Amino acid sequence: MKNIKLAMPNFKEARMRLKEVPTIEYEMKDEYKKLGIGKTYHVFTYGCQGNEADSEVISGILEQMGYKRGDDPYTCDVVLLNTCAIRENAENRIWGVLGNLKGAKRENPDMLIGICGCMPQEENATKRLLETYSFVDLIFGTHNINSLPKLIYQAYLSKAKVVEVISGEGSILEHAPKIRESHHKAWVNIMYGCDEFCTYCIVPYTRGKERSRSKDEIIAEVKELVLNGYKEVTLLGQNVNAYGKDLGSDYTFGDLLYDLDKTGIERIRYTTSHPRDLDMKTIMAMAECKSVMPQLHLPVQSGDNEILKKMNRKYTYEEYMQKIEALKKAVPGISITTDIIVGFPNETEEQFQNTLKLVRNVGYEGAFTFIYSKREGTPAAKMEDSISDEEKRDRLHRLNELVNAGYLKGNQRFLNKEVLVLVDGESKNGEGMMCGYSEHLKLTHFKSNDLSLIGKIVKVRVTEAKTWFLIGELCE
Ligand code: SAH
Ligand code: SF4
Ligand code: F3S
Repeated sequence: MKNIKLAMPNFKEARMRLKEVPTIEYEMKDEYKKLGIGKTYHVFTYGCQGNEADSEVISGILEQMGYKRGDDPYTCDVVLLNTCAIRENAENRIWGVLGNLKGAKRENPDMLIGICGCMPQEENATKRLLETYSFVDLIFGTHNINSLPKLIYQAYLSKAKVVEVISGEGSILEHAPKIRESHHKAWVNIMYGCDEFCTYCIVPYTRGKERSRSKDEIIAEVKELVLNGYKEVTLLGQNVNAYGKDLGSDYTFGDLLYDLDKTGIERIRYTTSHPRDLDMKTIMAMAECKSVMPQLHLPVQSGDNEILKKMNRKYTYEEYMQKIEALKKAVPGISITTDIIVGFPNETEEQFQNTLKLVRNVGYEGAFTFIYSKREGTPAAKMEDSISDEEKRDRLHRLNELVNAGYLKGNQRFLNKEVLVLVDGESKNGEGMMCGYSEHLKLTHFKSNDLSLIGKIVKVRVTEAKTWFLIGELCE
């Protein structure tokens, strides 16, 4: 198959932070609007909430082109994989799914297979896709989702593989159509990209420069969600606490929380926060705004100052603990969760012990824990690493034991108490059970088969507290 290469990824350009970023007003040309009529699509989504939000836009664009969501992903006319590059095992899953799709394409040669998201933004991944996965028709990245109709059109027209991966600062796409997955909870992007350049992390290269949406656009989006019956928004960004810095105004993330609280939305959550940029205004907003939920994901990565420095996290154990204390004081009962990496290059047992100490001192009620994964092109990839894989797995195991005890303790404090649950739907936990999340983001199952409760906030009395969830009874 011949290739049409409109642009290839380039890590040097991806590192650049020079230009102003444009805001692009979404529009679709009429000639693309009928391309998908009578055809089906499926989008596989991997990685973070940013990717989930992008997939909602991708689905919106495809439906505007006339495509309908298919029942079986492996028999659809267009199949897209929205990929994640954060760790090697995230990428390995995707190579695996691609293997399955190869068989599906043999059965149905007209199937259009596309790869998008963070993986194509890496030079090596795109090279491998081109060399080894010749059945992939379409490759595009995180910066050009709005080119999707054009790229599909070209792939149909020329029967060639189409590659367009743009590196660099990126842009802000406004007013693109979205097919939201939920009718009561919504993702709302408030900013894109990341300028932190933690030494282990690929995201600043795959997502471009930090760029904030205008506050008016964000507030208007949340107001519209309220009108449409939405109860909860999760504000998204790789570092939401840096909101507004790139706009050069004094309006910060804390100000945005106060303004969004006035829209009438019942619940506001946000992710992810960088500890260095979490300021008092944000903490005060969490304390004072009724809609901002008493829960925070505050990734720490390590409890050792030397490792934190090598990671370029720009805070110390002591500074992190000060913010935790301030949060606990301002928002009594707040549930704090985190992300932790073990086995960063040459991490000693003593340094790992400092992480365990921090986990004990904070009293996390949950954590995503990872073994460090080398990402080509990042500064940490060049660091010497003499710790064996076995030792890293052992550290992860010891850390997880502590973290899991924190999950359980965090749930036990709600035993025999009433919690407010936004109902998501039927529970996979057994017949006649429904579930949702409490204000502190605790998954809660309760006995009911009343589907009209979906999207409503109900009061549940907790009767059992397990490690991963609560069980309770509906209060009349
Ligand atoms: N922007 C967010 C996190 C994005 S990535 C933040 O800074 O909090 C989610 C998590 O993946 C990170 O918090 C980190 O714990 C983990 N992670 C990122 N790069 C990694 C790598 N190379 N190896 C292992 N874990 C990694
Ligand atoms: Fe990656 Fe650090 Fe940015 Fe988070 S803040 S996305 S870990 S570079
Ligand atoms: Fe993965 Fe990209 Fe998100 S690398 S974690 S999908 S920003």
